[in-house]
Amino acid sequence: MKIVRESLPDVVFVDLKMPGVSGFEVIEKINLLDPTIVTIVITGYATVNSAVEAMKKGAYDFLPKPFTPEELRLITQRGLEKRRLVQETIALRREKEMLREHFAAIVSHELKSPLGAIQQNLFGLEAELSSKLTESQKTLFERMKCRIADLLKLIHTWLRVILVDIKKIKESFAPVTVTTLISKAVESIQPHATRKEVEILISYEEPLGLVDGDEGTLVAALVNIVSNAVKYSRLGGKVLIKAKQEENSILISVTDTGVGISEEDLPYIFGDFYAGKPGPAAERGSGLGLAITRRIVEAHNGSISVESEVGRGSAFAIRLPALKSSVHNQPSLGAETYSDSH
Ligand SMILES: Nc1ncnc2c1ncn2[C@@H]1O[C@H](COP(=O)(O)OP(=O)(O)OP(=O)(O)O)[C@@H](O)[C@H]1O
Ligand SMILES: [Mg+2]
Repeated sequence: MKIVRESLPDVVFVDLKMPGVSGFEVIEKINLLDPTIVTIVITGYATVNSAVEAMKKGAYDFLPKPFTPEELRLITQRGLEKRRLVQETIALRREKEMLREHFAAIVSHELKSPLGAIQQNLFGLEAELSSKLTESQKTLFERMKCRIADLLKLIHTWLRVILVDIKKIKESFAPVTVTTLISKAVESIQPHATRKEVEILISYEEPLGLVDGDEGTLVAALVNIVSNAVKYSRLGGKVLIKAKQEENSILISVTDTGVGISEEDLPYIFGDFYAGKPGPAAERGSGLGLAITRRIVEAHNGSISVESEVGRGSAFAIRLPALKSSVHNQPSLGAETYSDSH
């Protein structure tokens, strides 16, 4: 372990049976120190069980004694290759993060500012010419203004996604009640639902604990999911929001009876700018809602998943870690909410 700590090698060969400390322990410690270091177990006690056990603890491979120099060379080469790939992946991920941040700066400076200036000039020009403009010229001005406003709106949403700053969100974490999140989200979507004659139903399974999080962004995440459910519902459809506690996590599900998502689209809907097959023109979005939502949920150490069937509807599930023993600390809260809703 001393050598490993001092030299941070690429590959480590470990015996399983050693005096004082077991190979398993060494593998675990190396993994904690630097998970990219490749550990290969060399042992005379090469039973399948200990091999499996070593792999579970994070060993890369297993070399039973006796082995030929060629076998040792081969496994070393593969180990080195594996480490190179892992390091490359890490570097790429870091690069992607940096690109994302740079991209935000580029978008805001190089696109947003000049576009804003064009918009202002257009307003000015239109005001100056207003008395001289023919009807068709006025229509042209309107069209330009609309297009520019749309572009600015898109850039704003764009920036919002890129700038969902996980560290900042985490700074403002506080205990939040799940029922508050849901009612705030529903409140903002209700008008849209009413227009589409979509009924939003809510059901809580008590007792329901608290989550540690940022209320504003969590509501925004829910708004995205529920507004999708309404948006991709047919006239007169139903949207069911359920919340319940499962051991240490809180599960919020949003189920709709809408158009559903095709199998080809399903793996990509949480990506940036992914909007599925063209739906009704009025309901097209920028394809960012779910990307933002995923980022918010992950910033809360939660996860989001989806199940869907074309023509039958979709079910989105958000799982957030419950605040420790929040259920036990707040028995009256749960009971009150329960009696309120009855
Ligand atoms: N409840 C749903 N039912 C059917 N399709 C859905 C549902 N939710 C999402 N989708 C599909 O996933 C795609 C991505 O959703 P997302 O919310 O990210 O973008 P959007 O709704 O198109 O635009 P935005 O939310 O940015 O206005 C949608 O375009 C749609 O095809
Ligand atoms: Mg959406």
